[in-house]
Amino acid sequence: MKYKGIIFDLDGVLCSTDRFHFEAWKQTAEEVGAPFDETINMKLRGVSRMESLEIILSGSSKTFTDAEKERLATEKNDRYRNLLAQMSPADMPAAVRDALTALHNAGLKLAVGSSSKNAAYILERLDANRYFDAVCDGTMIAHSKPDPEVFTKAAAMVGLAPADCLVVEDAAAGLEAARAGGMDCAIVGTAPMPFEPTYHIQDVTKLPGTIL
Ligand code: BG6
Ligand code: MG
Repeated sequence: MKYKGIIFDLDGVLCSTDRFHFEAWKQTAEEVGAPFDETINMKLRGVSRMESLEIILSGSSKTFTDAEKERLATEKNDRYRNLLAQMSPADMPAAVRDALTALHNAGLKLAVGSSSKNAAYILERLDANRYFDAVCDGTMIAHSKPDPEVFTKAAAMVGLAPADCLVVEDAAAGLEAARAGGMDCAIVGTAPMPFEPTYHIQDVTKLPGTIL
């Protein structure tokens, strides 16, 4: 087999939280008088919460103190967490669970590599922890994607060299992080990418057929 482990991004790969982020950030953008639409929301994919806030604030004519930024980020996260509470195991389709089980049964180590500080909560809502040998998330890293830290740390957590791991991502920042970490990358979905990934697949269910 070409790989010994797979590191999955969470948001946009294993589940769809995009609409919740959109709704929660939209209110922030309105409050600070900044434009916000799907194109701007896409730029926030894979990027940390505070860096996402900076991207939104760059569209505002006002300036903000660090304390105001902290408040805006906290309020956004409170709205986002309220929306995440709607999630349930039904939000991870059986076909995705079957794909994860097939990959694991083939002897691959499976890990999550997410910039989100809400990853543990999301995995709990989905009842999805049991599929993974390790979870590395936004609470464990100093630099978020496109820095490779979350992926190299996830590889270390499952005892593998980065070159033996495949990253699965939906975001340009994640593709760049995988390359910076020396890992192949499978991109799911249709977001524009700065360069060609190793694989382009429709979704996670297509992964076993692509690499096994
Ligand atoms: C990433 C999302 O997984 O997590 C980003 O793609 C988000 O959009 C980032 O900004 C940080 O998320 P959180 O949950 O810590 O605010
Ligand atoms: Mg993502």
